[in-house]
Formats: sequence, C-alpha cells, structure tokens
Amino acid sequence: MKKKILLFLALLLPFANMLLHLQSAIDPIKYIYIQTGTTAISLLIVTLLLPWFKRVVNLLRYRRMVGLFVFFYAFLHFLNFFVLDAELSISFVIKQTLDKPFIYLGMISFSILTFMAVTSKKSIFRRFVKWHQLVYVAIILVTIHASMSQKVLSLIEYFYIFVMIFLIVAKLKDRFSFRFFKRYFSTLVPF
Ligand code: HEM
Repeated sequence: MKKKILLFLALLLPFANMLLHLQSAIDPIKYIYIQTGTTAISLLIVTLLLPWFKRVVNLLRYRRMVGLFVFFYAFLHFLNFFVLDAELSISFVIKQTLDKPFIYLGMISFSILTFMAVTSKKSIFRRFVKWHQLVYVAIILVTIHASMSQKVLSLIEYFYIFVMIFLIVAKLKDRFSFRFFKRYFSTLVPF
C-alpha cells in the first residue's frame, strides 16, 4: 500500500513541476505541450518496459496506475491544444489538423489511450484484453507524432525511436516464435 502511494506521488511530480514553472515560461502553451507530451510518451514507454525489469523492480501490478497516468498527461496535452491553443475553435482544430499531419497521428493515439483507460477497469478488462494490444499502434504513432512535431530531431526523439523499434521487434518475435511453436508442437503439447 505504501509503495502504491509513493508511486502515485512520484507520478504526480511532473504535473507539480509543470505548475511550479508555468509562470516563468516564455511561451506557456508551448511549455505545456512539451511537459505533458514528454511525460505521457515517457510513461507509455515505462508501462511497456515494466515486464523487462520485473527482476530488478517488480511494478507489474501497478501497470494500470501508470497507464492511467499516461492518459492523464495525454489528456492535459489535448486540453492544452483544444482549450488554450485552439480556444475551443473547431475551425482552428480542422485547419491545424490539415496543415500539420502529425496532429491527427496524435489524435489517433489519444483515442487509443482513451479507449484503453476506459476499458482498463477490472470488471470489464477481460473482455477487451485483446484490444489492449493497440498500445503498440499507439507507441508507433506517438513516436512519429513527437518526431514530426520537431524541426530537427534531437537525442530524445532518437531515443523514443530506438525504444519503439526495440519494443515492436520484441513483440513480433514473441508472437512469431509462439505461433511457430504452436504450429509444430501443438500435437505434442495440448494448449
Ligand atoms: C489529442 C491529440 C494530440 C494533439 C492535438 C497533439 C498536439 C501536439 C502539438 C501541437 C505539438 C507541437 C507542440 C510544439 O512544439 O509547438 C505536440 C508535440 C508533442 N506531442 Fe502531442 N498531441 C496529441 C497527442 C499526443 C499524445 C497522445 C502524446 C503522447 C502519449 C503526445 C506527445 C507529444 C510529444 C512528446 C511532443 C513533442 C514535445 C516537444 O516539443 O518536445 N501527443 N503535440
């Protein structure tokens, strides 16, 4: 329980840090984009890397909580776009989306994250567990989104791209070897 509370507070730190420094930001809207966007993508990577570190630190049972924080920061990022940047103007949203294709990649990923947050409740999760594989589509789109939003890629975007490729290859390898095993050995081993 203590661990859960500590983790909850740790996950709130980027939000507190953002509020603390918001007043001194030269361009507050850009500042919110950067803070909420980088926190959301970093936590998304953390949720997908948790199984890899379970021997060092096993936080797998808090995966849902971390996932909900991904949604929380992505939601703040979206609110920044719709309320502060677009000032609730639908025509601005449409114009920006047509002018900057990276925005609709962000919107598709945000829709996936919203779907996952809504269906992550214990009572209904089982029914949607397969659909939660869409998180891999989200990480691909979000990485492209973040990279396309920059004029020049920096080390952090290269890092996102590297981790994303690593996660996708690991997932495909896992799937493929399981299918291969099932196809050739299913007569021997009942699944
Ligand atoms: C509702 C959908 C979304 C919209 C409308 C949106 C909008 C934007 C915009 C306008 C920027 C450029 C900000 C600037 O530099 O001026 C941006 C950057 C970014 N977005 Fe999004 N986004 C969306 C979804 C997401 C999601 C779901 C994530 C992560 C999970 C994300 C992560 C990022 C990151 C990491 C950046 C780069 C920030 C930086 O400059 O370092 N976005 N987004």
